Amino acid sequence: MSLTIEFLGHSGFILTDGTHVLVIDPYLSGNPVAVKTPESITCDYIALTHGHSDHIGDTVAIATRNNATVVASFEIANMMSDSGVKKIEPINHGGRIATAFGWIAFTHAFHSSSYQGTYMGMPCGIVAHIGGKTFYHCGDTGLFGDMALIGEIYKPDVAAIPIGDRFTMGAELGTRAAEMIGAPIAIPIHYKTFDLLAQTAEGFSPSGITVKELAPGESVSLP
Ligand code: NI
Ligand code: MN
Repeated sequence: MSLTIEFLGHSGFILTDGTHVLVIDPYLSGNPVAVKTPESITCDYIALTHGHSDHIGDTVAIATRNNATVVASFEIANMMSDSGVKKIEPINHGGRIATAFGWIAFTHAFHSSSYQGTYMGMPCGIVAHIGGKTFYHCGDTGLFGDMALIGEIYKPDVAAIPIGDRFTMGAELGTRAAEMIGAPIAIPIHYKTFDLLAQTAEGFSPSGITVKELAPGESVSLP
């Protein structure tokens, strides 16, 4: 069992155990730092943290072409269904579902969630168990104390933590988040994509945790 984590830029990832492929927040079209096209993505699952367009991105096109299952909040899952996506798994905070590769659980995230002006339920974080590893994507969020509880319960091997400031935590609070979650590897996300966001990961330096700064298209593998 192994997990390969490829960064798509911004908050997007491709996770694979070599058999199954889970994509999270595939924002590629219009993403100034993206190095992949939606047409190049092959997957069987797409999970979404929330409804903002820099996270939903190309989900409908990718899901439709791959006949992939979209895992998202009840409201987003319904919108996907209305958009022609055939396979949906609605989920919400605290819930966990079995998948072909393992499982996905949804956690709190403190943010907002809408798509083209329509309410899209609460924003979420995603915990995915794939390749025998556990990956916690915090979504877009501010710092909250229960990140320690999420770390304690799921014991993630890797945490993807927003550090771009303004809409989410910045590097300083992201550092606190990484330390609270306690995953041995932290990947900074949601920075550098736009002028409004922090342009470097400087200051993101959780103690006792390896920071893996990935450029779009770069991967890290956990054996
Ligand atoms: Ni957002
Ligand atoms: Mn965002």
